[in-house]
Amino acid sequence: MTANNMPAHDLGKIPVSKLTEAQAKVELKRLAAEIAAHDARYYQEDAPTVSDAAYDALRQRNAAIEGRFPGLVRADSPSRRVGAMPTGKFAKVRHAVPMLSLDNAFNDEDVSDFAARIRRFLKLDANEALVFTAEPKIDGLSLSLRYEDGKLVTGATRGDGEEGEDVTANVKTVAEIPHDLRGKNIPAVCEIRGEIYMTKVAFLELNRRQREAGEQLYVNPRNTAAGSLRQKDANVTASRPLHFFAYSWGEMSAIPEKSQSAMIEWLAKRGFKTNSLMKVCRSVEEMLAYHHDLETRRAALGYDIDGVVYKLNRLDWQERLGFVSRHPRWAVAHKFAAEKAATIVRDIEIQVGRTGALTPVAKLEPVTVGGVVVQNATLHNQDEIERLGVRIGDTVTIQRAGDVIPQVLGVVESKPRGAKPYKFPKTCPCPLKTEVVRESIAGGEEGARARCTGEFACPFQKIEHLRHFVSRRAFDIDGLGEKQIELFFEKNWVKEPADIFTLEARDKKIKLEDVEGFGEVSVQNLFAAIAARREISLERFIYALGIRHVGETTARALARGYGTWKAFHAACLKLAKGDDETRHELDALDQIGETVIEALAAYFAEAHNRGIVDRLTEQVRILDAEKPKKNSPIAGKTVVFTGSLEKMTRDEAKAMAERLGAKAAGSVSKNTDYVVAGPGAGSKLAEAKQLGVTVLTEAEWLKLVGG
Ligand code: IVH
Repeated sequence: MTANNMPAHDLGKIPVSKLTEAQAKVELKRLAAEIAAHDARYYQEDAPTVSDAAYDALRQRNAAIEGRFPGLVRADSPSRRVGAMPTGKFAKVRHAVPMLSLDNAFNDEDVSDFAARIRRFLKLDANEALVFTAEPKIDGLSLSLRYEDGKLVTGATRGDGEEGEDVTANVKTVAEIPHDLRGKNIPAVCEIRGEIYMTKVAFLELNRRQREAGEQLYVNPRNTAAGSLRQKDANVTASRPLHFFAYSWGEMSAIPEKSQSAMIEWLAKRGFKTNSLMKVCRSVEEMLAYHHDLETRRAALGYDIDGVVYKLNRLDWQERLGFVSRHPRWAVAHKFAAEKAATIVRDIEIQVGRTGALTPVAKLEPVTVGGVVVQNATLHNQDEIERLGVRIGDTVTIQRAGDVIPQVLGVVESKPRGAKPYKFPKTCPCPLKTEVVRESIAGGEEGARARCTGEFACPFQKIEHLRHFVSRRAFDIDGLGEKQIELFFEKNWVKEPADIFTLEARDKKIKLEDVEGFGEVSVQNLFAAIAARREISLERFIYALGIRHVGETTARALARGYGTWKAFHAACLKLAKGDDETRHELDALDQIGETVIEALAAYFAEAHNRGIVDRLTEQVRILDAEKPKKNSPIAGKTVVFTGSLEKMTRDEAKAMAERLGAKAAGSVSKNTDYVVAGPGAGSKLAEAKQLGVTVLTEAEWLKLVGG
């Protein structure tokens, strides 16, 4: 039972506005785990199990709870992470300015909240006009085009937002992308961003030809556009009818205009195609009317769109608003309602994840929703099955918004029902057939997840561990994907991570070259790729270990906190022996909380895990973590804002501190460097004084950071 004696699964039904703080804490934990699992399936396995709409709903709930309880934002919160990683086929390009994504609005209220938030952040009077641009959200893939002295030098996909793929050669075959910018006085560096897409007609025509040729059909225009752009052979890209709308920019050595709408006109004059449906709106009512109008015209447009994007028109205000984790504060995507269909549940299958979590998946009678054939839907967990009351044989409504596997919305009661309620298995489907337990999470509450208790002995978990180890965000070894690692595992060649690095030495016996699917060259390439990974960054290494609750963000925080593997490893071993000082040391790190500490302690308390780690560290060299940049007076410092500020809002001040490389913390501790106190400061100021932390007024703070 959870806070207030309510089973964890029922919390999901409570409106955010009614959650108590204790309940919110439990909910955030559940959401973080669930969203992380979806991310992994979507980005690393290309095998999502929920619809975009269901996924968005989870993120939205998470954001809403965090909004109400900012103090509860978790180190591993999904709001702190961005999307997909590059695939490795193309050279990587680091974006000079990250390519972030947009926050979503799902209804009219979210849009008014968005405008109200901007007003609050900028401290605007009620009579000050807020002007926005509204434009279609194109369902394609975003692209960054770098022009130096007016010449196209690089075209890059978004990738994980920080680093994308170099698709310059392919981009140059797209007729709507200018190779030279038109006009005079063009800034020396212009990074123009926009969306690559394929028209519906072109997509249908391509599929008609595929069908005639007996080839596999493409799923939808967006995937086809993505696939077309990411061809190794630029001639293939050239043969595909791709289009491009320019709608934003990254690095610019000078920004020629003062508003979003003027920038779009500027882009059009430089030779880009811009969306003719963009409109300037002067009120929330106008924005909503635009959304409504576009939704009714959606089907008649020549290309797929999935909503409307609103952007604040004034660029100086965009600049002040800045970004919050993965989204700009000055823009939002207002999605269209998802598409639905009904189909029959043929079976319910149980899948076992890396940490032993069991996920039930509904196997559906294939049905076409929004042009895509779907046949799987996740049922999340036992509680969800009970909540929905799904039985095998039932007809269910499913919903999808993008191109992924849908969410089950509910049972169609008027249709013939399955004979008997579904019984969640009592034993794991793995060969050990262990007893299934409900996850016990921090504080002793019972989680919604069922898990296999087989741990090291469960081959399903072992293989998932290895898959995680070689995944893109972990060791990312070229030529060693899921398929290969599964094969090596089955053949008993790789049972744990260290074995990957001894493969080559054992190859005399194994003779990989003779295995189907391998050849002399691919084996040599594989060994070279493995050798290249004998050096690895500390954060990747920590992430790759696959410790529960230690996602990428947490791994990065740990790496930065300890700097070296030696220091981190020593701390974990002490922690596992119950050393309180180490526990405090970890707790003091930004973004690290009780759940992560417990998970580290549990992991390193296990002799089996220690063995895996020791054998692995004999094989690899772990590089020290990068020190935070030292080019600003507050880089690496921890700052706490308290009381009210006059020149800017607290959010704005925090954002500014973070931009300058400082950490903005919520509470004062001995690790705090500065407390910036305005009128009305209370307990935090008192604490700062007691701990001897430097206290600054707002004016002193502004002076320190240079205005
Ligand atoms: S503006 C800082 N405008 O939506 C973000 N994005 O979730 C600037 N997209 O990755 C993006 N149409 O691929 C913007 N008219 C539009 C868009 C648009 C589609 C995509 C883009 C981006 C994603 C954000």
